[in-house]
Amino acid sequence: MSQDNWVDAIAVDELPSDDVKGVVVAGRDIAIYTVGDDIFATDNVCTHGQARLCDGFLDGHEIECPLHQGKFDVRNGRPTCDPVTESLRSYPVRIEGQRVFLQID
Ligand code: FES
Repeated sequence: MSQDNWVDAIAVDELPSDDVKGVVVAGRDIAIYTVGDDIFATDNVCTHGQARLCDGFLDGHEIECPLHQGKFDVRNGRPTCDPVTESLRSYPVRIEGQRVFLQID
């Protein structure tokens, strides 16, 4: 674990454009989203059931869960559509060189 808990997660060029990718960082299953030039990160497992959001559909800032089509705002993890009611944990993102770092405690 680095200082202030910033952890090197992935290279920027390994991320698909306007899409979501699942990565394991510091033992956590995390979804990393690209929306235009912005990058966001949340937990990858839906708060409603055992589905991975990296298998879902990203539309703008919303990720749709593949299991029951609940949706979350990838900027803050908040639910935006039933049946999800509980927020996803979201992680601060920092780009350094060509690497994506996440702040994980
Ligand atoms: Fe994601 Fe049900 S498991 S909406």
